[in-house]
Amino acid sequence: MATSFPEGFLWGVSTAAYQIEGAVREDGRGPSIWDTFCHLPGTIANGDTGDIACDHYHRWPEDVALMRELGIGAYRLSIAWPRILPEGRGEVNLKGLEFYDRLIDGILEAGIEPWVCLYHWDLPQALEYRDGWQNRDTAKWYADYALLTVRRLGDRVKHWATFNEPNCACVKGYGDGGHAPGIRGRQSALKAIHVMNLAHGLGIEAMRSERADLLLGNIFNFHPYEPASEREEDEIACELLDALWNRSFPDPQMLGQYPELLAAEIESLVEPGDIDLIRQKLDYFAFNHYTRSRVRRDPDHPFAVGTLPSEPGAPVTDMGWEIAPDAFRAAMIAAKERYAGDLPIYILENGAAFPDRVDPDGRIRDEARISYLRSYLGAVQDAIEAGVPVRGYFVWSLLDNFEWALGYSKRFGLVHVDFETQERRPKDSFHFYAELAHGAPLERE
Ligand code: FCB
Repeated sequence: MATSFPEGFLWGVSTAAYQIEGAVREDGRGPSIWDTFCHLPGTIANGDTGDIACDHYHRWPEDVALMRELGIGAYRLSIAWPRILPEGRGEVNLKGLEFYDRLIDGILEAGIEPWVCLYHWDLPQALEYRDGWQNRDTAKWYADYALLTVRRLGDRVKHWATFNEPNCACVKGYGDGGHAPGIRGRQSALKAIHVMNLAHGLGIEAMRSERADLLLGNIFNFHPYEPASEREEDEIACELLDALWNRSFPDPQMLGQYPELLAAEIESLVEPGDIDLIRQKLDYFAFNHYTRSRVRRDPDHPFAVGTLPSEPGAPVTDMGWEIAPDAFRAAMIAAKERYAGDLPIYILENGAAFPDRVDPDGRIRDEARISYLRSYLGAVQDAIEAGVPVRGYFVWSLLDNFEWALGYSKRFGLVHVDFETQERRPKDSFHFYAELAHGAPLERE
C-alpha cells in the first residue's frame, strides 16, 4: 500500500552544533561544558570527544550540497553559544557570528529553509563556573544571547527554537550526571529545570521584542513509559519519571503549572511572576521521539527511577531502543490533546542507530534504518489521519556524528561518515528519504 503525505508537508533533517562542527578551539570559540566533560576520563565511550566530530565547521559546503541532493525543504541546526559568546556573556566573537552568517546563506542558496535551535546542550563553560543552569542569572544571560543571535540572523531565519530537549539537558546533565556537566543530584536537577524554563520565557520575550515576524517554539522530547511490574514502587517510579522527563517543560510552558508530583519540591524555587513568564504563546509545537520504556524503582538514582531493557525478543535499534511505531502515533495524538491545541505540530527528531557496514562495492545497505523510517512515517500518516496536524518531519540525523556519552559508536546518519578520513557516503536510507522528499508516496509494509 502506498500513501501520500499532505500537500506542503515539510521534510527535514536535524543536527546539533557540538555533534558535528568540531573546530572547538578555532576562530575564538570558547569552551563549552561538553568540551570539559569529554576530556574527563571515563565519561565518553572509547574516550571520544567532539574536538573534530564531522569537521562540519570546514566541510559545511559539502554537507549543504548533500542536503540539496536529498531534496529536503528544511534543515534544523543549532548554534554553539560559546562560538558567539566565548565567555557566555559580554564580549561577542564576530568570527563566530560570521560562520553562522555564511552557513545560513549557503543553506538558503540551496533552496532549504534553516530552522535554528539556540541551545543543544553546549553551555559555555564560563557560565558553568557560575553554577550554570542552577543559577537564575543564566536565564538572563541566555536571553541576551538569544537577542544577539536573532538580531544577526533574524532577517533570514524565521523558525527558531529556544531549546532542544531541555528535559534531557537537566535530567542527565544535573540529575544522573551521565551528560555534561556531569552533576548528580535531585535538587540540582530541579533547579536546572526551573532556570531553563525561565530562560525559555525570557528568550521568547526578547526575540519577540526584536522582531514580530519570527515563528517561535521549543523542542520537547516525549518518551512513553510503562511500569515494569504491578508493584506499587514501580508504578510510583513510572509516574515520577513521566513527570520529570515528559512534563517538566511542556506543563509549565503550555499549561502554566508544574506536574503535581514535582510541584512541592520546585515551589521553593518559584518567584512571583515566574509562571506567567514561562507560559508564552508559541507559534508551533515541536517534539522529538524515539522509543518507549519500562520503568522500575532504582534506589541508586537521585529520583529512584530506572528504565529496563526492552522485553527479550522485541525489535530494537543499536541503542537498544525498542522499535515501537504505535507508541509514536500515540505520542502525537497525546501531544495534540494535552498541549498543542490548534498549533501546527512538527517532529523535529526521529531516527535510528544501526551498526552500518560499507560493502566492498562502497554501498551502505541500511535496510534496518529504512524499515524503521518506513514504520515511523507510517505512524505519522496514521496520526494525521486521526486529526493531528503534523506539518513536518525531520530525521535525526543528516550525518553519523558524535552521539554524546556514546561517542562515535552509534551511527544515526542518512550519510555515513568515515571518522578517519571524513569521507561522506550517502547510505541507501538517504536515497529512500530523497524519494519521499521529492514527493513519492510512502510504501507501507
Ligand atoms: C536526542 C538528541 C540528539 C541525538 C538523538 C539520538 O535525544 O537531541 O542530539 O543525540 O537523541
